[in-house]
Amino acid sequence: MSDRIANAQLKGKIMSAEEAAQFVNDGDKVGISGFTGAGYPKALPKAIAERAKEEHAKGNSYMIDLFTGASTADDCDGILAEADAIRFRTPYQSDPTLRNKINDGTTFYADYHLSESGMYVEQGFFGQMNVAIVEATRITDEGHIVPSSSVGNNVEYLDAAEKIIIEVNSWQSVELEGMADIWRMPSLPNRVPIPLTEAGQRIGKTYIDIDPNKVVAVVETDAPDRNAPFKPADEISQKIAGNFLDFLEGEVRAGRLTYDGYVMQSGVGNVPNAVMAGLLDSKFENIKAYTEVIQDGMVDLIDAGKMTVASATSFSLSPEYAEKMNEDAKRYRNTIILRPQSVSNHPEVVRRLGLICTNGLVEADIYGNVNSTNVTGSRMMNGVGGSADFTRNGYISSFITPSEAKGGDISAIVPFASHIDHTEQDVKVIITEYGYADLRGLAPRQRVDKMIALAHPDYRPLLQEYYDKALHLAKEKKMMHTPHVLSEALSFHQRFLETGSMKKTSKK
Ligand code: COA
Repeated sequence: MSDRIANAQLKGKIMSAEEAAQFVNDGDKVGISGFTGAGYPKALPKAIAERAKEEHAKGNSYMIDLFTGASTADDCDGILAEADAIRFRTPYQSDPTLRNKINDGTTFYADYHLSESGMYVEQGFFGQMNVAIVEATRITDEGHIVPSSSVGNNVEYLDAAEKIIIEVNSWQSVELEGMADIWRMPSLPNRVPIPLTEAGQRIGKTYIDIDPNKVVAVVETDAPDRNAPFKPADEISQKIAGNFLDFLEGEVRAGRLTYDGYVMQSGVGNVPNAVMAGLLDSKFENIKAYTEVIQDGMVDLIDAGKMTVASATSFSLSPEYAEKMNEDAKRYRNTIILRPQSVSNHPEVVRRLGLICTNGLVEADIYGNVNSTNVTGSRMMNGVGGSADFTRNGYISSFITPSEAKGGDISAIVPFASHIDHTEQDVKVIITEYGYADLRGLAPRQRVDKMIALAHPDYRPLLQEYYDKALHLAKEKKMMHTPHVLSEALSFHQRFLETGSMKKTSKK
């Protein structure tokens, strides 16, 4: 195992996770590797959680501020949250235990755009970063870090932290080396254009250079990444995928897209993964991805020869596909590039490459504003993640969603979004199992019919009733640009909170 640690100085720093956890103190700001269940440290979170429990049992305070690339896994975010060890968390999470701690008020959560979260740390917006804990497949002779299955914010955290702890994970294939493309953005005021004009270009190094003198511990691990498997595509996801393909075909007919010119961004989630399965049987070839995460569906497209380049910052693979990636990393690294999230999600490159972006949503309103994060305006689901990095800057930004959630008690189309992450200016197309609403070139009132047609038939009359009333009031008061009945704009949400359903027949 120690073969993976080529640098003699750092070999001398090998210790147990429990010993290494002594370098992490109460109140520390800790930046870790990890992005959607890939490449997060496997041993330190457990050791820190144990330390927190011991300190709490003695009546002492012990909580850290935790910074990541994005979400991690239950044996990282989950166990730390369970131990009440997280005081503050940013920039993205999706663990159920942590989500509960955020929503019960134990943990502060700052939901930031992933492309700029590293810069915030680098610039000291949160204060001094104390410790960086980063997973590596290998440490080079010079003491540089070869990242594992995600790159995320590693560069910024390693640069900013006073102390570094490296976890060298022998479960991760050494053949991953060469997948990472580490390009450092010079700090302000010396920024330069990112020299990327194609999704597949490599512009940086395959490792992260660090100051070895900052390394206080090296911990050896042998543990798998832990992503939840995707839900198999059901009938609704398949219909959504079909409608998305119809939309793409329409772009081809309009002369705005060719069958070999599709550059995709695809968000995390079950529905986006199902859309990729739909692309397998489509006429699209030579598909390129400039995106945030590599999901199972993209691996299938690569294997089928349909996708020729996939640039991202991380894997987000089911356990089965993660094994497959590990076994065949040498082959996949010809097609897959993992970049820092400051580059994979950078607005400059997203705009330049003309991406067709596809993300999931919590709800959309009749004018096309989208909520991706806050259920009934206040309960955090996951976070905005990279969805706004891509949606604002993409060429055509779409959202895909089932028309209902929670067995039909929640409509994805509502009169007024109870929280807005993506404004009507950024949202171009919305797709449900009932079709797609192409909102481009339309004024707010011209969008309403299309949006209501996307809703589940049970909710269409309720939405129409609301809009008719809003129109009537707005005419009188000369407020016809985006008509609303302010006292009823959140009536769907209010009804859900009071009765358990957005429908008018009460369940309680
Ligand atoms: N109210 C309450 N719950 C809702 C909801 C709503 N309006 N809409 C969806 N949900 C729930 C679903 O019921 C489901 O819950 P379950 O896991 O308990 O079954 C869960 O959210 C996931 O929904 P699903 O329909 O399977 O879609 P998804 O996996 O595509 O996820 C989001 C949808 C919005 C949660 C997800 O896309 C997300 O977190 N987006 C924000 C971040 C992002 O877009 N990142 C990509 C950037 S590259």
